[in-house]
Amino acid sequence: MPVEFMSLTPPNASDEINPIPGAGVDPDYLVRYARTLDDYGFNYTLIPYGSSSFDPWTIGATIAAVTKNIKVIIALRPNTLYPTVAAKALATLDQLSRGRAVVHFIAGGSDAEQAKEGDFLTKEQRYGRLEEYIRILRRAWESADPFDWNGQYYQFKQFSNQVRPVNGTIPVSVGGSSDEAYRIGGSLADIYGLWGEPLEETKEQINRIYAEASKAGRAESDRPRIWVTFRPIVAETDELAWEKAHHTLDVLKSHGPSTNGAGKPTPAPAPQNVGSQRLLEIAARGEIQDRALWYPTVTATNARGASTALVGSPRTVADSLLDYADLGAELISIRGYDNLNDAIDYRRYVLPLVRAGLQERANRSPVA
Ligand SMILES: Cc1cc2nc3c(=O)[nH]c(=O)nc-3n(C[C@H](O)[C@H](O)[C@H](O)COP(=O)(O)O)c2cc1C
Repeated sequence: MPVEFMSLTPPNASDEINPIPGAGVDPDYLVRYARTLDDYGFNYTLIPYGSSSFDPWTIGATIAAVTKNIKVIIALRPNTLYPTVAAKALATLDQLSRGRAVVHFIAGGSDAEQAKEGDFLTKEQRYGRLEEYIRILRRAWESADPFDWNGQYYQFKQFSNQVRPVNGTIPVSVGGSSDEAYRIGGSLADIYGLWGEPLEETKEQINRIYAEASKAGRAESDRPRIWVTFRPIVAETDELAWEKAHHTLDVLKSHGPSTNGAGKPTPAPAPQNVGSQRLLEIAARGEIQDRALWYPTVTATNARGASTALVGSPRTVADSLLDYADLGAELISIRGYDNLNDAIDYRRYVLPLVRAGLQERANRSPVA
């Protein structure tokens, strides 16, 4: 399988460096961003989910309607939608987009965030529910006949699905770094999403995922494809990129932890999800890992989502990304701290170097 590239589509121009308080969906920005990714050969875009944020389904359908090739990844928390409804919604989007729908599952990494939308299951239960949910989706997409379901979390009778994915099924992605995430993702996912960790830790995670896949009886050719996520900060030279990185960090810090009455920063509570905990632990070991993986952006944001930067010239960043491809990552997500301009810069200066490096590797080891 070739290496593919990914971004995340924000609903408007608001970002961590230039937040626009209260910004609504900006249809012009959304369409421009999505078309830029599509024209520039990005293969996927993630539409994230947050309890107080915009609806990924309508955003995803809008993106599909104005693009030709890019695959639209809908982030989905099982507590927000009954699985038979999700199966049909995804298949409908898949038909509308001529086979470009993907689903990325979030079991839920924070009890407080889950409770905001009425979900009071424990984390272990949330992963149990996710397992059932994925099995129901696959059955709904594949089953020619009506079927009953009598599981721990869902029960229904004679569900009959008339809405089929274009290619028979839809890629299912799972993200997370807990034991439960490795087990469910390793055994059931087509794609496994990871945040940006150093090469050694990424390799460890890949090994865990593959071990769970083989425990579940999956052949090597059927293991989840690995997706890694970075926030590259790129400039013409390494030196200029580091200047830009420190400026980015200053701005992130200025929006950072709130202050108490005495003007002292109040420490943010430790995140509950293991993925963020791992990022913070690695950040505590040092600012730079490997060639150019930079962690102060993680600390400044309390590891809120994908927050690991890669800092350097296009050559440095491309070489870093190629290190992950060599490790076995097949999907590489790159989104900066200045979304639209960074997507354009990546396409102009970074992706050609990564693609050339991949081509070189393919030429070195011709397929028999
Ligand atoms: C690539 C990737 C994308 C993610 N996207 C989202 C998202 O859009 N919304 C969200 O709440 N969590 C998102 N997450 C977070 C995790 O899925 C979440 O923390 C997980 O349910 C529990 O994590 P844990 O198993 O590491 O404890 C994402 C994680 C990864 C790795």
